[in-house]
Amino acid sequence: MADKKRFTSSRKLDHLRICAEETVESGDTGFGDVRLVHNALPECDMRAIDLSTRFFGHTLSSPLFISAMTGGHPGTKEANGRLARIAEHFGLGMGVGSQRAALENPALADTFSVVRDEAPHAFLIANLGAVQLRDHGTAWAEEAIEMIGANAIAIHLNFLQEAIQPEGDHNATGCLAAVAALCREIKTPVIIKETGCGISREVARQCWSAGAAAIDVGGWGGTSWAAVESFRADGDKSVQGQALRTLGVDFAGWGIPTVVSLAEVAGTGSPVIASGGVRSGIDMAKCLALGADLCGMALPLLKPALESDEALTSSVETVHRELVASMFLCGAARVRDMRRARLFITGKTRQMMDDGNPA
Ligand SMILES: Cc1cc2nc3c(=O)[nH]c(=O)nc-3n(C[C@H](O)[C@H](O)[C@H](O)COP(=O)(O)O)c2cc1C
Repeated sequence: MADKKRFTSSRKLDHLRICAEETVESGDTGFGDVRLVHNALPECDMRAIDLSTRFFGHTLSSPLFISAMTGGHPGTKEANGRLARIAEHFGLGMGVGSQRAALENPALADTFSVVRDEAPHAFLIANLGAVQLRDHGTAWAEEAIEMIGANAIAIHLNFLQEAIQPEGDHNATGCLAAVAALCREIKTPVIIKETGCGISREVARQCWSAGAAAIDVGGWGGTSWAAVESFRADGDKSVQGQALRTLGVDFAGWGIPTVVSLAEVAGTGSPVIASGGVRSGIDMAKCLALGADLCGMALPLLKPALESDEALTSSVETVHRELVASMFLCGAARVRDMRRARLFITGKTRQMMDDGNPA
């Protein structure tokens, strides 16, 4: 058991290092197939564009959301604290990484609770895997929420990663029932979140029926956990290590592109968080037009989070500038006005959306 706990924690550090140093994006989100219709007469003042938005009754100063990444190893505390300071400074929502490591070993709790210390007013989202929820029940979710004074909890789905890891949890039975029980048993909103393979409309409907308060699509095209796991296996020359590497490479193309997943999920209910390969304020504007309430970014904020507050501030400011300019050029003075922005959708993305919606 002690080895297992150490393993959960050291794996978090491996993931952070690999994501920061290697090329772990391996897909096509579909954003390239989406074009916002330019408004040549926007009739609004770009300086007065209002990025503020409401989510679960909270006012956030922008739809940019810092997606779940870290905590769980002493070496991650500084980056988590930095992300939280920036969330507090800009009035953004933020998720922490899976809290499993700290639930297994409470000595690691401060690598997560640092976010509430640094961001006393921010909208924070706790994080737990669906398998851990099934195995440990609502008590673990409550502990995770308490650990960071969370405003909501995300239950993450990562079955591709589990499937290709030899040590992964290969039994997914009972997870939906565990989510339904959690939604019944706690007052804190429960968000169901994928981690890079997207959510289909069928799964979205199951999540809403189970009582989910929001869905984070976590679509394909951004950070690929198949790619991350294949890098992690790189140095392992054993037969098992090489097999994991091959599986990682083979499955890097598996998933529902973010744009397609967002359209499917937004067609079933709301609120929806768009994430997976969101890389600019222009991507964010496209997500808002496709029905997203918030837009999550993980990887683009990782390197600056490992560097400095200034680097992170500059990244967020650039994204906001792009979003403001995009909204202006669509004639949208407020975030909710982006819902009315018109889009052209072409190519494979159009085809997948049409194939998924037979007339
Ligand atoms: C270094 C790193 C660690 C992550 N850890 C978690 C995690 O613990 N829990 C989770 O739900 N998602 C985790 N994610 C997934 C992100 O929250 C997000 O869903 C995914 O990376 C897609 O966004 P991106 O393409 O902007 O990176 C992690 C992502 C990165 C880059």
